Amino acid sequence: MDFELKTLTSHQAASMAADALILLWPDRADEAAGGIDDPLTLWARGAVADKDIEPAAGSCLLAHRLPGVQPRRLALARAGDGSAAAVRKAVLAALKALPQDALKRLVLLAGNIAAPAVSAAVQAVSEASYRYVATKSQAKPRALQKVTVGVADAGAVRQAFEQGVAVAHGVEWAREWANRPGNHATPTLLAEAARQLGRQPKVSVEVLGPKEVAKLGMGAFMAVAQGSSEPLRFIVLKYQGAAKSSVPVVLVGKGITFDTGGISLKPAPEMDEMKFDMGGAASVLGTFAALARLQPAINVVGLVPSCENMPDGRAIKPGDVVTSMSGQTIEILNTDAEGRLILCDALTYAQRFQPRALIDVATLTGACVIALGGVRAGMYANRDELAQALYQAGEQALDPCWRMPLDDEYAEGLKSPFADMANVAGRPAGSVTAAKFLQKFVGEAPWAHLDIAGVAWKGGAAKGATGRPVPLLVQYLLDEASRLAQEPRRSAKTAAKTPRKR
Ligand code: BES
Ligand code: MN
Ligand code: ZN
Repeated sequence: MDFELKTLTSHQAASMAADALILLWPDRADEAAGGIDDPLTLWARGAVADKDIEPAAGSCLLAHRLPGVQPRRLALARAGDGSAAAVRKAVLAALKALPQDALKRLVLLAGNIAAPAVSAAVQAVSEASYRYVATKSQAKPRALQKVTVGVADAGAVRQAFEQGVAVAHGVEWAREWANRPGNHATPTLLAEAARQLGRQPKVSVEVLGPKEVAKLGMGAFMAVAQGSSEPLRFIVLKYQGAAKSSVPVVLVGKGITFDTGGISLKPAPEMDEMKFDMGGAASVLGTFAALARLQPAINVVGLVPSCENMPDGRAIKPGDVVTSMSGQTIEILNTDAEGRLILCDALTYAQRFQPRALIDVATLTGACVIALGGVRAGMYANRDELAQALYQAGEQALDPCWRMPLDDEYAEGLKSPFADMANVAGRPAGSVTAAKFLQKFVGEAPWAHLDIAGVAWKGGAAKGATGRPVPLLVQYLLDEASRLAQEPRRSAKTAAKTPRKR
């Protein structure tokens, strides 16, 4: 699907060859002065004046073959205050109301729209028209091929438009891979997909297998993988958009391609949803897909430990003690708390980059779903500045998170009589104690953890991956790139000698 941005009047839009036209109508358009005589605007004005359309954002009115208008299907969509959130609602509703199979070419007429709303509009078109077809023999792929976004001044919103297109691409990448069933998205296949990303400019990818991982001493990661006949993969991606000496942001994504719970087996109902347990990995890879398009001036490293969590004669057992790459030993009391075991070794590996920020993304705990549901991701950070930056990025990208606590008292329950720590504490505050476990492996790095268990996919009738938090991560990295541009130049060497104020 291609997007283009054009300066368009409603006169011009009405004469475009397209299968449908969506006319975004913010509240302020109600009061706009008259004198416009194009058929689209007259139709919309009349419908609003006659109260044929509700005022709330997301309300829609359809029309068919309006005289003087080329696209034969029209949707008038109320866009409230014109904010990104309201525009997103409007576009999603309009595409729900239109017959999508009949739409190859779409015009989205947005007039005097603000920059963040342009990005939201593009993402909403992608979100509403995405179709999963990879493992269906009869499914029709998405019909939509070309989307023209018409605005009053294309130059003023060009950058936001490009960001929207790149984020949409990253989100689709993440949704696609998270949606694929466990047997179609093994660690090996996921690594192959990551390798494809390595063909893009400024992106390189390296994939480590069991031998290399053993050599690194990733005992916790290997312990989880040992119950599966699928070999583990450790994927290392690098996006180099800034000088070599510029220290990177490191992203870590949980890549459990299927989580049975292991010997601490999960109950059968809804276990299929544990194919989404690589949602963190998918979002990190999707973020790289977006970076490759946007080419921002920043260095980013992506780390994805990927394996299955299976019960088996060789699988880890409750009570087993393993040695992590950091040297710390872990008593595995519950084999279903496997995400933290693969992440802790990736966090240790990340130390070699002396990251500017270290951010892990994981479908880590059911407890986070209970705490925050599907609206906001749980966010933990050991620096206020980083927490603030991630919070703001989430708000701006309509991909919100909420900061959670890291008081040391929460780590009490992780004490073990047989190892340096246990991999689980009691039931209370399960998302927090998981974060406290991870914190033992981050050293002095500015670190944040996103528990995306509630937001990475939707269950029920509309079951499927969301691609979150790609929008948040891309926004954060673009913000970070502009902060970096404002900093005086520092090389990695001086950064190592003189601890920087973070
Ligand atoms: N992948 C799950 C977390 C999860 C569960 C995400 C349900 C979304 C929905 C994770 O590996 C897990 O099993 N966590 C356990 C931890 C517990 C054993 C301390 C959990 O949340 O039950
Ligand atoms: Mn688990
Ligand atoms: Zn898991």
